Amino acid sequence: MVVLAQILGFLIMAIVASVASAGEPVVTYVFGDSLTEVGNNNYLQSLAKSNYPFYGIDYEGGKATGRFTNGRTIGDIISAKLGVQSPPPYLSLAPNDDAILKGVNYASGGAGILNDTGLYFIQRMTFDDQIKSFENTKEAIKAKIGEEAAEKHVNKAVYFIGMGSNDYVNNFLQPFLAAGQQYTHDEFVELLISTLGEQFTRLHQLGARKIVFHGLGPLGCIPSQRVKSTRGICLKQVNLWVQEFNSKVGKLIASLNKHLPYAQITFADTYPIVLDLIENPSAYGFKISNTSCCNVDTSVGGLCLPNSKLCKNRTEYVFWDAFHPTDAANAVLADRIFTTLFHEASSPAPAPYPRKFLKT
Ligand SMILES: *[C@@H]1O[C@H](CO)[C@@H](O)[C@H](O)[C@H]1NC(C)=O
Ligand SMILES: *[C@@H]1O[C@H](CO)[C@@H](O)[C@H](O)[C@H]1NC(C)=O
Ligand SMILES: *[C@@H]1O[C@H](CO)[C@@H](O)[C@H](O)[C@H]1NC(C)=O
Repeated sequence: MVVLAQILGFLIMAIVASVASAGEPVVTYVFGDSLTEVGNNNYLQSLAKSNYPFYGIDYEGGKATGRFTNGRTIGDIISAKLGVQSPPPYLSLAPNDDAILKGVNYASGGAGILNDTGLYFIQRMTFDDQIKSFENTKEAIKAKIGEEAAEKHVNKAVYFIGMGSNDYVNNFLQPFLAAGQQYTHDEFVELLISTLGEQFTRLHQLGARKIVFHGLGPLGCIPSQRVKSTRGICLKQVNLWVQEFNSKVGKLIASLNKHLPYAQITFADTYPIVLDLIENPSAYGFKISNTSCCNVDTSVGGLCLPNSKLCKNRTEYVFWDAFHPTDAANAVLADRIFTTLFHEASSPAPAPYPRKFLKT
């Protein structure tokens, strides 16, 4: 187990070291759901939208951009730390826009690993749709710089993937949907892992090598799940399922790294980081982690609608709405995730601190 952690540690090192030493701006391609979306759903007939106040109230200019938080996403903050612009939404770009050479964000609120996930949001770009869109991007890059250079370009880029929360929150845990009734959790998690295996393999075929997969956080503790308990506490069973998913993704990734040539896939285990923030908010300067700043109605979706009431001080809350962290919480989480990556990169031997963030 420790050996596995070390292997993953070295992979992170390889990714970050190569990124840091190249001296050229890092190109990132981002895949995900509402935790990473920067505005693709603005272009879709989707019920999962956030391009209205009070979303973005703490973003530059107080603008609602389609980010599902009051300010920046974790990806925005990590991009800033890498010294690059947070990549724009895929659907905001013309297919052959020069901007695609600097990175693209394919994330879409409501998306999941499975095609069926988020069906009731009507339109969204599922993970398969996002991969297909990246394929289009790659074709456009080829047309711009030629096949060989395009291959190098996509090999060198870093791919951030955060996917799976909706497969639970908006699929398996919704009793009126098929998956909750059709599958036991053992069957469901196997379906997720086998689908994810095909998706990683497809990305690898398309030239992705340096991939960071963000594991799931403690979904049993987000406000939309807590309200299902009588005392507003975390749902233990949900957290156990999520941990099982994370553990199986870790194993999948270790196996893919062995079998896919030049693959450098890393599992970023955000679970303990997020749980610590929720359990010890005051250690990070927060006051409240068991309910959201925006006084959402969880019976009608849990998003922060324009007629909602906001809390007085948004930096005191870990959660913005029933699902998504505040800008202040994202800043803490991005910091911890980023430090973990660079700590590994700069220390010759794997240090004890980051090891706990790697799947063992
Ligand atoms: C999911 O949708 C994609 C196209 O969007 C399709 O290629 C794929 O076969 C579908 N997967 C399943 C399991 O139906
Ligand atoms: C949050 O925790 C506080 C302190 O333990 C408690 O008073 C409050 O009722 C909880 N709120 C919710 C929505 O569960
Ligand atoms: C908001 O809360 C933070 C953290 O507790 C505190 O530092 C800050 O002074 C508060 N701001 C206002 C306007 O009360």
